[in-house]
Amino acid sequence: MQAVVLAAGKGTRMRSDKPKVLHEVLGKPILGYALETLALLGIKKPVVVVGSGAEQVKNYLGDRATPVLQAQQHGTGHAVMMASKALSGYSGNLLIWPGDMPLVKIETLRRFIARHKSSRADVSVLSSVLEKPAGYGRILRDGDLFCGIREELDASESERAIQEVNTGIYLFQCPLLFATLEKIKPQNKKNEYYLTDTIEILSGNSKKLAAFPLASSSEGHGINSRQDLAKATQIMSERNIHDLQTRGVTFVSPSQTFVASGVKIGHDSTVYPWTYLEENVRIGRRCQIGPFAKIRSGSVVGDDSIIGSFVEINRSKLGKKVSAKHLSYLGDALIGDETNIGAGTITANFDGMNKHQTRIGKRVLVGSDTVFVAPVTVHDGAQTGAGSVLTADSIVRRGEIVAGVPARLLKKGRK
Ligand code: UD1
Ligand code: MG
Repeated sequence: MQAVVLAAGKGTRMRSDKPKVLHEVLGKPILGYALETLALLGIKKPVVVVGSGAEQVKNYLGDRATPVLQAQQHGTGHAVMMASKALSGYSGNLLIWPGDMPLVKIETLRRFIARHKSSRADVSVLSSVLEKPAGYGRILRDGDLFCGIREELDASESERAIQEVNTGIYLFQCPLLFATLEKIKPQNKKNEYYLTDTIEILSGNSKKLAAFPLASSSEGHGINSRQDLAKATQIMSERNIHDLQTRGVTFVSPSQTFVASGVKIGHDSTVYPWTYLEENVRIGRRCQIGPFAKIRSGSVVGDDSIIGSFVEINRSKLGKKVSAKHLSYLGDALIGDETNIGAGTITANFDGMNKHQTRIGKRVLVGSDTVFVAPVTVHDGAQTGAGSVLTADSIVRRGEIVAGVPARLLKKGRK
C-alpha cells in the first residue's frame, strides 16, 4: 500500500516560525509519529507533501519519505494533487494522513484498512465521535449512508450539531481519487481546494463510501494550536503510563509524570511525580525513580536501582542495585552493579568538541560532589572522596581510594 502525508500547511494557529509538523510531542516531532506508524504498516517510503518550512521538513524526513512540494497552500485537496506525479501508475489503495495527527494507533489503522477492504468501499474515512466537535469537518449521513463532509466554517447550525467528525485519515482507491480531485472547486469560506469535497462528488456518482468511527476519540485529536499540542502530550503520556501500569508499575501521580513512547519498566518499580522519561528508556524491576528525575533517550537502569531527586541520566547504562539518589548528572556513563553515586556527582562528558565516556565499575563508592572529567575509568571496589575532581584520562584501579583536586592517590590498590 502507498500513503500520502499532508505536511505543507502553514500551521497559522500555532503562531510559530517553525513548521507545525516539527513541533514536538514528548520529544518527537508530530510528523515522526505518522512516519513510524506507516513504517510499521510496511509503508517505508510514503509521499510527504511539504510546503511551509519545506527545507526544514525535508531535512527531518531524510530518506524516510518521498517529499513533493506544494509551493502555495491552497488547501488539503490541492496538497494531495501535488502527489499525483509521484503516484502515477499506482492503482491500489491510498492512505491519506494529515501530518498533524500523531495519536492514531497502529492497531486502529490495521482495523480501518481491514474494514475498508472487507466492505469493498471505494473510499473510507476514519471518523470520530466527539462531545465537542468544534473545529473539525462534520460527517454528513443520509440515513445511515455516509454522503459528505462539511467544514465547520461552511456548516449550517444543524450541521454543526453533528458530533461525528472527520479525522482526516482516508483510504481512497488511488486513480479514483485523482480523477475526482480534478472536479473540486475552491468554493467555500476559505477559498481552498478541500479534499473533503471529493466525498460529496463521489456520493453523487453512486460510489461506495464508508465512515468508520474510532473506538476511542482521543486518537483523533489533531494539532492546530499550542493548546492542542499540550493536550496531545498529555494524552500520549497518559496512554504510555496506562500501559506500564497494566504491566505492574506504580505511578504515584500519572498526571504529573511524563513518559514518552517505547519506555520499558519492570514490574514493582515506582515512579514518583515530576519525572520525565524520554523515548525508549529501559528501567528494570523494583526500581524507584524520582521525584524530579530526568532519564533521557536510550538510557538503561538495572533492577533494584534508585534514581532520586534532580538526577539526570543521559546515554548511560546503569547496572543493578545502583543508587544515585540526589542531584547528579550521569552522561555517557557505564556504571556497574551495586555502585553508590554520592549526592552532587557530575560526569563532565563534553569538552566543547566531543563527548567522552565515564566507566565506573561494580561496588564503587563515589563520594559526594565528585566530578569525573571524562574519559575516566574507575575499577571495581574503588572509592572517591567527597569533592574529588578526577581529571581526563584518570584511571582508578581496583580497591583504590582517591581524593582531592585533582584527585590524588590515598590508598594504593591492585593492578
Ligand atoms: C482538516 C479537514 C477536516 C478534519 C481535520 C482533522 C479539510 C478541508 N478539512 O481540517 O475535515 O476534521 O482536518 O484534523 O481537509 N495541509 C497541506 N496543504 C494545505 C493545507 C493543509 O499540506 O494547503 C496539511 C496541513 O499541514 C495539515 C493537514 O493538511 O497537516 C490538515 O490541514 P489543516 O489546515 O490542519 O486542516 P484542518 O482545518 O485541521
Ligand atoms: Mg488540522
